[in-house]
Amino acid sequence: MARVPLLVALCLVCFASGASAAGRKMVGVYELRKGDFSVKVTNWGATVTSVVFPDSKGNLGDVVLGYDTIAEYVNGSSYFGALVGRVANRVAKARFVLDGKVYNLYANDGKNALHGGHRGFSKVIWTVKEYVAGGDSPHITLYYHSFDGEQGFPGDLDVYVTYELSSPYVLRVRMNATALDKATPVNLAQHTYWNLGGQGSGRDVLGHTVQLFAAHYTPVDGTLIPTGQLAPVAGTPYDLRTPTAVGARVRQVSGGSSNGSAVYGFDINYAVDGEDARALRKVAVVRDGASGRAMELWADQPGVQFYTGNFLKDVKGKGGAVYGQYGALCLETQGFPDAVNQPGFPSQIVRPGQAAYKHDMVFKFSF
Ligand SMILES: *[C@@H]1O[C@H](CO)[C@@H](O)[C@H](O)[C@H]1NC(C)=O
Ligand SMILES: *[C@@H]1O[C@H](CO)[C@@H](O)[C@H](O)[C@H]1NC(C)=O
Ligand SMILES: *[C@@H]1O[C@H](CO)[C@@H](O)[C@H](O)[C@H]1NC(C)=O
Repeated sequence: MARVPLLVALCLVCFASGASAAGRKMVGVYELRKGDFSVKVTNWGATVTSVVFPDSKGNLGDVVLGYDTIAEYVNGSSYFGALVGRVANRVAKARFVLDGKVYNLYANDGKNALHGGHRGFSKVIWTVKEYVAGGDSPHITLYYHSFDGEQGFPGDLDVYVTYELSSPYVLRVRMNATALDKATPVNLAQHTYWNLGGQGSGRDVLGHTVQLFAAHYTPVDGTLIPTGQLAPVAGTPYDLRTPTAVGARVRQVSGGSSNGSAVYGFDINYAVDGEDARALRKVAVVRDGASGRAMELWADQPGVQFYTGNFLKDVKGKGGAVYGQYGALCLETQGFPDAVNQPGFPSQIVRPGQAAYKHDMVFKFSF
């Protein structure tokens, strides 16, 4: 049963032609366009496959990493552009206790669970609920029903994500999830890899400057599981409160290890500043001096995982591009990693009959 959607995806790779595909469970690529600003989304993993806007000289460029075909997204292991869940980031030892019951998840990152497991929300077909390609607010709404026990998580869950071009160079992402019959942790994250110089430019992001509106971060152990502390960034290489070149810091921070080999780079959760962790507020500003492009990110989540593509290595991407280490950066707004095992972290538990999970992001691009 679990394999059927994969086969369906591989057989039905196609480019959808407008709204006629809405509601059908086939895999397509949907373009949203407002003048020279365009975004492409596929319902495979609710994935953003391209974001195009001009640089300071007026040249259009695609600023997100990805692949040319859906088959490569199906096979890929980097989560390019994907919507990850049911619980993004790591859950220690792929296990948690909720309301006295033990739940075992699919361990796909050593002993830990990562990004919802082996077949999380980034590896399933979403249903296209609504698609408006152009006009004042081009948008697409995708829906996924996650079943009780999927990858070990409790209860049925209805999940929606809407991608919308809400004004000329603004991309809005709105997510929600409703627990239908059991309490469950929910932590969704948008996993787009950004390179404002252009995904095929051959340049990495070490020259980008990043500013994060975060005075604290959650330190981690060697397997990237938080220790539970909330530590000040002041006096550490994690302090990005003023615009800082990625390359100036990247070798001062440990980027975890995959299979015994340690890498340098950011792969760490910051606690976003602000009194109200659920209010929409400025999270980050990223600038690429070479292209003149910049991106401001706003969100309403307690945390943001800042990742600098530490594990990218010779990945064959769009149009013959090859992505290497530090070839892009991710700013994954979300709850704190492993919150389900950390009583001191903001709760990610969503209960039936109570408020749904909500997560809004706003990307403002300029050039
Ligand atoms: C599948 O992914 C692996 C790396 O994860 C890569 O080596 C292989 O070439 C990919 N296959 C296809 C058909 O894209
Ligand atoms: C979730 O989003 C969908 C699509 O925008 C919307 O129809 C639905 O009412 C939302 N649900 C909640 C609980 O906010
Ligand atoms: C570790 O890497 C080696 C060589 O790349 C590979 O053969 C082995 O399967 C990997 N082990 C794990 C647990 O990923």
